[in-house]
Amino acid sequence: MGPWPNDPLGPQAREIAQLYWIMFVCAVVVLAIVDGGIVYAGIKFRERPGHVAKQFHGHNFLELTWTVIPTIMVVSFSVLSFQKLGDINDTRAGVEMTIPTQAQQWSWTFSYPEEQRFKLLDGTYLKTSEELHIPVNTKVLIKLSAVDVIHSFWVPNIGGKKDAVPGRPTELWLSADKPGTYKGQCFEFCGTGHADMLITLVAHPKNEYDAWAADAVKEANRLLDPATKKGRETFLSLACVGCHTVKGTVAAGKVGPELTHVASKKSIAGGVLSPVDEANLTKWIKNPPAVKPGTLMPNLGLSDDQVHDIVQWLLTLK
Ligand code: CUA
Repeated sequence: MGPWPNDPLGPQAREIAQLYWIMFVCAVVVLAIVDGGIVYAGIKFRERPGHVAKQFHGHNFLELTWTVIPTIMVVSFSVLSFQKLGDINDTRAGVEMTIPTQAQQWSWTFSYPEEQRFKLLDGTYLKTSEELHIPVNTKVLIKLSAVDVIHSFWVPNIGGKKDAVPGRPTELWLSADKPGTYKGQCFEFCGTGHADMLITLVAHPKNEYDAWAADAVKEANRLLDPATKKGRETFLSLACVGCHTVKGTVAAGKVGPELTHVASKKSIAGGVLSPVDEANLTKWIKNPPAVKPGTLMPNLGLSDDQVHDIVQWLLTLK
């Protein structure tokens, strides 16, 4: 099933779903009795010529029944809810991993623990956006913060919905029963990009999690390599970022092709230049309209050095 809270795939969601079903079934029974009674009485005792409706104001048995039963039900629901809330809000006991999570218009940034396996070349620790990777059957504490407006973290199958509020730290815990990819969504309207503020939770088998971490660290380090630092900084400081996306950097433009793995592509400039090597990249960046008349990519008038640095960096984006 899809991202649906009544398909619980973690202890949080299971607690909530159980409570939901108990209340739902009780509500249906009450609805059937009350509405059934109204319809039955309406038909059986309706006004008819020569028939006077019987009055039973102050009928003790009925008065007690419809006071005591709902009272018992409401009290039971409260007790059950408090019990479940105790588990759901217990963000302390048995936490195995803590992920500070920052919400901003319109994305999530997940910071992995300061452990060797998440350490990057520049001494910082791994961060991901959009995707949150966790091991299965592990109690993960999500510490929420927001930089601009109120957002809300929710992965329905796994459970727990919590607002991320500027200036007020909040937290929730989650755990996934089995490996898989779970869809989530910012659940508080936070501006025009709200609908695109997605969360993809990926749960890995425990013995495969370190391998994922190693890959992710390698990928992140690729963007930090000192040898291509100059080109990277040049690229990120120029108009390039307005049109192109390189995942893991601030470049998030949507007008031009994504360049995250440009060095692995077969061609550039819409197929005009192939293969993607130093010579072709240089030719293209130096003067795009000369290669492909009418292209949207302008001649930025870069110096040979700038072009060289950028090309060296792009060649590492495999
Ligand atoms: Cu962030 Cu809605």
